[in-house]
Amino acid sequence: MVMIKNKIGCLLVVLFLCSACDSGSEHIVTTYPDQQSLGFQQFSRQCSTCHRPPMPDVHVAGAWSAVVARMQQHKEQRGLLVMSDVEQQQVLAYLQTHAKSVSKKELLK
Ligand code: HEC
Repeated sequence: MVMIKNKIGCLLVVLFLCSACDSGSEHIVTTYPDQQSLGFQQFSRQCSTCHRPPMPDVHVAGAWSAVVARMQQHKEQRGLLVMSDVEQQQVLAYLQTHAKSVSKKELLK
């Protein structure tokens, strides 16, 4: 019951935030960006075998290539079909395009 209440609470917050958006905007922030793109298709194909594909904005652009390379190793270790260079590039481009933006504070570190 508590769970349901929380879900409704979240929904209300989302609805509230959306109503505060620019007029006519139907953008829902909890879904993956640019789902029509080939990059997204490649990403969802390559990154959903072992876990839910991450939102691209969990990392800054510069961090993604190391993560994708590590995921390639996971595939190798499990004997799964690895990504070709092209596939890896497509996934990376998608993730980097929609990556978390770097704040000034982070740049100064
Ligand atoms: C073969 C299984 C497998 C596939 C396929 C896979 N992952 Fe992972 N992923 C893992 C495992 C295992 C972990 C936890 C250990 C780690 O972080 O390396 C993980 C963790 C992660 C994390 C959380 C850790 C971090 O560094 O933020 C992200 C983000 C991630 N994966 C992204 C991806 C992306 C992007 C793809 C597609 C290119 C992908 N994964 C495909 C196995 C996989």
